[in-house]
Amino acid sequence: MSGRVRTAGAKNAALPELAAVVLSSGEFHFQDVPGVEDIKVMFLALENLGAEGEFHSNTIRIKIPAIKSPLVPREIVETSRASVLLLGPLVARNGYAKVSTPGGCDIGDRKINYHLEGLKRMGTDISEEKEHIIARAPQPLRAIDYSFPTKTVTGTENLLMAAVLAEGTTILRNCALEPEVGDLIDLLLAMGADIKGKNSETLVITGKSSLTGAAHKVVPDRIEMGTYVIAGCFTGNEIIVENTVPGYVGCLLDVLGKSGMQVTTAADTISVNSNGSIKPIDVETMPYPGYPTDLQAQLTTLLTQADGVSHIKENIFNNRFQHTGELNKMGANIELNGDVSIIRGKTPLTGATLRATDLRASAALVLGGLIAKGTTVIENASQLFRGYENMPQKLNALGADIKVIEE
Ligand code: EPU
Repeated sequence: MSGRVRTAGAKNAALPELAAVVLSSGEFHFQDVPGVEDIKVMFLALENLGAEGEFHSNTIRIKIPAIKSPLVPREIVETSRASVLLLGPLVARNGYAKVSTPGGCDIGDRKINYHLEGLKRMGTDISEEKEHIIARAPQPLRAIDYSFPTKTVTGTENLLMAAVLAEGTTILRNCALEPEVGDLIDLLLAMGADIKGKNSETLVITGKSSLTGAAHKVVPDRIEMGTYVIAGCFTGNEIIVENTVPGYVGCLLDVLGKSGMQVTTAADTISVNSNGSIKPIDVETMPYPGYPTDLQAQLTTLLTQADGVSHIKENIFNNRFQHTGELNKMGANIELNGDVSIIRGKTPLTGATLRATDLRASAALVLGGLIAKGTTVIENASQLFRGYENMPQKLNALGADIKVIEE
């Protein structure tokens, strides 16, 4: 494959940013919103709350003049975990929220106890009823000083969004540093919020009684850009990834450098070249700026082509190795030992019928299918479209041969 591919806006930035619309009755204008299923689900959930708006050509115009319903129903959000992001903003603006418990990827335990703990300390009563979380705040939320016991991306975002409307000055400690959190902070600042400490682990938020609408361009998706950068590492490929922020994938680029890739970055492009041989490496997933769990599966596919034994330790989620069994069906030699996968390369891959178990696993299987001899069929491919905008079209433009079969 060769050519240029453009990264879309970040799904995991656009999701909390759409949730932040709940905080104000003003009008919002978002650009570079990725046209992926998880975003469409969030848009529907907002319409259910009373939002008026439109979503086309990667642009969303939206406002919620009044909360007409405090309900985020299961039928709408069962495929997406991001519903939990509506809890903080809804209870902050409306004093009451009934949000379906999160769906989304089957990648292991995905607790939300720190989200709930923080909201409780702000004065919210939380209960659970038939797969819904009910949050009631009889008084306006009050400021807290809270340290997250472990780093959580959506936990940081949820409490941040509650704190911008709480009375007093909230201090959130041990916050997640992912660029998507920083992008949400930029949006909240544009809405008139008072937040200090962007890109640091401690955020100091002084609540405001109301916030305005805003215009915002979503940052590029670092997981999508990383996926295409990895695609460019397979022998013979020459891919230039556009609309990137190289710093967002700094850890990936270091890892690829260690495995012998030649990585070139410019202001907003990344290109990689393999000189034919991929060195085995040992990697462990960590919160940002460490190696992202969301690029673990795709790297695994690459390392099946390395000359020797690689190890990947998954530290964030406890069931994120489902792609390994599927890759083995293609001829890979991957063994699991607890939270470590042992990848013995180099193994030629052969086309097979595979099942996509989660979003990032499905991307790993697509990469496998591209280098396998013969035809690969990926079932349950809807997982892919939850988070990758037009991936088949983008890869076909680079020379791949992918057909999407609607069933
Ligand atoms: N955790 C707790 N308690 C909490 C919250 C988290 O114990 O209250 C634990 C989780 O069980 C997990 C770890 O902390 O072991 C990290 O979870 P985190 O909360 O950071 O994950 P998340 O916010 O649910 C977001 C992304 C994921 C991404 C992770 C890690 C969104 C909408 N989702 O999930 O994205 O893998 O951060 O970076 O931002 C994806 O896009 O494919 C995806 C799964």
